[in-house]
Amino acid sequence: MSLQLNTPLADLATDAATLLRENFESEATVTAAAPGRVNLIGEHIDYCDGFVLPFAIDRYVVIAASSNDSREGRIGTTFDKPVTLDLDKKKEPGQPKWANYIRGVIRGFQDRGHQIPGFDAFIVSSVPLGAGLSSSAALECAMATLLEGLLDTVLETREKGLLCQKAEHDFANVPCGIMDQFASAFGQANRLVLIDCKTGEPELVPFEDPDLTVLVSNTKVNHELSDGSYAERRKNTEDGLAIIGKKSWRDVSMADVESAWDDLDDPINRRARHVVSEIERTISAAKALEANEFEALGPLMAASHASLRHDFEVSCKELDLMVEIAHKIGRDGGVIGARMTGGGFGGSTVTLCESGKAEAIAAKLATDYEAATGIKPDIFASRPSKGSHLIK
Ligand code: GLA
Repeated sequence: MSLQLNTPLADLATDAATLLRENFESEATVTAAAPGRVNLIGEHIDYCDGFVLPFAIDRYVVIAASSNDSREGRIGTTFDKPVTLDLDKKKEPGQPKWANYIRGVIRGFQDRGHQIPGFDAFIVSSVPLGAGLSSSAALECAMATLLEGLLDTVLETREKGLLCQKAEHDFANVPCGIMDQFASAFGQANRLVLIDCKTGEPELVPFEDPDLTVLVSNTKVNHELSDGSYAERRKNTEDGLAIIGKKSWRDVSMADVESAWDDLDDPINRRARHVVSEIERTISAAKALEANEFEALGPLMAASHASLRHDFEVSCKELDLMVEIAHKIGRDGGVIGARMTGGGFGGSTVTLCESGKAEAIAAKLATDYEAATGIKPDIFASRPSKGSHLIK
């Protein structure tokens, strides 16, 4: 069996409640869940007014909590010792780093005038860390949902996504776009979340054909977006747009990029070519999906990967290898398309394939990848799943 099994959401919730009881002697009264995401196509263009096509995966961060009568938030995890946060103080970034996602979300509620009640909480997760599957957005959205439960209030979904994005910007120091938080907040079972990042409008696109499977292959090469390479790419695109002299990438054509090629200089010209071509590819992919023309996704995903590899330079040899193995298995072997997914510099690939051949494809990806790198990848199948919600 090459496909990794998943812990059901209900079991995660039970684990979180048990650990809350064992660590804080509290019974959970509020339990929140939020998923990671995988992106089918539309990479590194959410901060360029582009379109992106992710979905929420059935891997969740779950937080079980209960109010206490203190002015503190005490938060336990399976991977570090508990942290205690003074809720009377406006939260600022600090140590340990993982708690900045929590601090940032609390700050978002504080800035909206909420007084957070004292609480005990325990976090469990089935979203792999550093795998390009948005474990941080899942943590932010789960925390925001938990606070909605503790405060007995409901934010508009878009507002919740934006609050979580701001936590990532200000507390984790990653100037991300809106894809991850919107996918985690708006996700629905059997639906892709097509986001027009210019208007900030998500549209739910059906994706429920049982003959199609999405495989996620975690190369186990870690990605760290806060090291500056993500911010640098974003800056490249801002510089490119300024040189081209347009207000939005949506108004830039490939002819504009070509005529500005020499003024843009390398690598800005290649970054620009990626942005404009990836926006076109994502629009084509969304149209193909709406028309049930899944086969059209193959060439689009291949071109997306090549562009991210050569023009945007966010891939790495392990991601290239995983995609290459999928391409070698080919259409006859059941593979429709493959590409890197997420921020890059390591992390995961996404492979769209025929369900009947998914197990054999996963086995081949795992064997060939391990033979070439010595690293055992984690490969799992995922279907579009429910976004952030309160379990109770
Ligand atoms: C990270 C960011 C997203 C997006 C992707 C690349 O996941 O958080 O906003 O930019 O990288 O598509």
